[in-house]
Amino acid sequence: MTSVLFVCLGNICRSPTAEAVFRARAAGQDIIIDSAGTGAWHAGDGPDPRSRAEGERRGYSFAGQAARKVQVQDFYDFDFILAMDASNLADLKALRPKDSAAMLSLFRPDGSDVPDPYYGGPDGFVDVVDLIEDAADYWLAQMTAGQSKAE
Ligand code: 4NP
Repeated sequence: MTSVLFVCLGNICRSPTAEAVFRARAAGQDIIIDSAGTGAWHAGDGPDPRSRAEGERRGYSFAGQAARKVQVQDFYDFDFILAMDASNLADLKALRPKDSAAMLSLFRPDGSDVPDPYYGGPDGFVDVVDLIEDAADYWLAQMTAGQSKAE
């Protein structure tokens, strides 16, 4: 069983969108999917309505999502921890216990950021879903390859 945690700053825009997109793409596969933020300002909140609107317009479900802060235990609980931008990745590296076996990486395979849309206009929220849809297929292929190797 593979598990993946998507991480951004607030856990209300980018990583909940990644969680929703991945849930749809990975449907029927044994993959545990969650998201978290490096910051706790929005802990307990549902996804940002702007993210939710663009995601739901494309058919993704955000049902049951509530923001939470990433915790040290996540480095033991998840196989893949995928950061939306370089700043999130740096924060995660600082938190990562030495004996964690998790694969910690930027989410976009080309190593660029999924830009933070929170303080920007509506186009940013559209771009976020585009970028996440592109990268999701890459990670799904990585995870399913890993699963067949392990069995
Ligand atoms: P996210 O966006 O990291 O994609 O969830 C943000 C949400 C909230 C804040 C920053 C980024 N904030 O500063 O409250």
